[in-house]
Amino acid sequence: MVKLLENPLRVGLRQERTPEPLILVIFGASGDLTQRKLVPALYQLKRERRLPAELTIVGTARREWSHDYFRQQMRQGIEEFSDGIGSEEYWQDFAQGLYYFPGNMDDPESYAKMKVFLEELDGIRGTRGNRVFYLAVSPNFFPPGLKNLGAAGMLTDPIKHRLVIEKPFGKDLSSAQVLNRVVQEVCQENQVYRIDHYLGKETVQNLLVFRFANAIFEPLWNRQFIDHVQITVAETVGVEERAGYYEKSGALRDMVQNHLMQLFCLTAMEAPNAINADSVRGEKVKVLQATHLADINNLEKSAIRGQYKAGWMKGKPIPGYRQEPGVNPESTTPTYVAMKLMVDNWRWQGVPFYLRTGKRLPKKVSEIAIQFRHVPLLIFQSAAQQTNANVLSMRIQPNEGIALRFEAKMPGSELRTRTVEMDFSYGSSFGVTSADAYNRLLLDAMLGDQTLFTRSDEVEEAWRIVTPALAAWDAPADPASVPQYEAGTWEPTEAEFLLNRDGRRWRRL
Ligand code: BG6
Repeated sequence: MVKLLENPLRVGLRQERTPEPLILVIFGASGDLTQRKLVPALYQLKRERRLPAELTIVGTARREWSHDYFRQQMRQGIEEFSDGIGSEEYWQDFAQGLYYFPGNMDDPESYAKMKVFLEELDGIRGTRGNRVFYLAVSPNFFPPGLKNLGAAGMLTDPIKHRLVIEKPFGKDLSSAQVLNRVVQEVCQENQVYRIDHYLGKETVQNLLVFRFANAIFEPLWNRQFIDHVQITVAETVGVEERAGYYEKSGALRDMVQNHLMQLFCLTAMEAPNAINADSVRGEKVKVLQATHLADINNLEKSAIRGQYKAGWMKGKPIPGYRQEPGVNPESTTPTYVAMKLMVDNWRWQGVPFYLRTGKRLPKKVSEIAIQFRHVPLLIFQSAAQQTNANVLSMRIQPNEGIALRFEAKMPGSELRTRTVEMDFSYGSSFGVTSADAYNRLLLDAMLGDQTLFTRSDEVEEAWRIVTPALAAWDAPADPASVPQYEAGTWEPTEAEFLLNRDGRRWRRL
């Protein structure tokens, strides 16, 4: 347990500011993301008085909804997926800034009409021509949406017009490059906010503070002291109703290329000169450029896929991935990926980074574990038992916090050691739970702060790193060749070998 000191270190990743009056246009307004995440996050921000009174939200989708029907849907979302509306007064204040515009993303005429509508709203709401366009739609709508927005002249002003793009950004390196070119044709990089919601998580940002606001860890943060690093993002959920998307995506595209790669970057990057978009993203790109799969000629030594088969979780039978609705019974899509990355630079040469993620694992847990080297000589021979090397684990969710594992002498006349933990927990130290990642990201996009958004070169580098695995796993394969793990268990045996071969083991979390 760590006590908060009276004079806490004041490290602001961003100063508290309020965005300029603006219209936020959400494409995909009838979708889940808008109702479950985006609008509840905006409502919360509004209640916290972080948004300007003029903020106007325009939802757009193909359905012929009225403004009132849209408001009702959004209210339902806030009631169901967040803390509720609080007082009716708050809601009324928020709802009067909500509008709906029915439109087709493929149809240039829709954009011309929308442009007129937004200009009218500027007059009514005082939003001064400021726009944030949020593409919360399926990625096949990104290119036509971008081109149409560009052609309608809605992205011409690099200061007033911004673009937020949801993941996935491309499905491999070449499609990401093509998409980046489309983006570059219609606007400048400083107008673009590519979302990776992991960067909006409080504890992910804390990684930067932990590393660069403390003097004692950074000197140890290198190949001299660190044996290896394990990054785990484990989920208990299965594919749920998303087979249509997930079958084409799988764990490598859905989780590794983006979320795990971001956790990796923040762990491995050099100290940025400052906490701003250029410095932070510049350092992330540098470390990605130095990174590659451990052995690209022998994929089984650097990347393992797996798929959950039927099993039991919490006493309930769970169907295998191939039995899930909408999934091809012969599917080879991975629901689990383990990977060994190496970084060719002075800090990390020879230190493996093991990444793993999967669905239907026994626990929902995300953590980064820094495994230190063993002591050079163990002088406590009489300790009879083996001592463990130190581990620093940073828990991203749940029970966010940081723990340091070390050896201590057990009380008594004999010299026996035991592993103990020093633990810092966000909940008990700060007495608050972390806000949803979208609160932070939406606010930053509206403020014009790109630090927590991925840059074009960063996305491309992340795709480059996983390309050998993508190429191998996208090729038609015998379904029997995909390693299986039972739902509710940790990983396929092949993934255990990935570490055992190096004389290491996955942490049991
Ligand atoms: C999403 C993936 O980006 O992240 C999902 O598409 C996954 O498949 C989710 O479940 C995990 O996010 P979190 O915040 O619950 O760890």
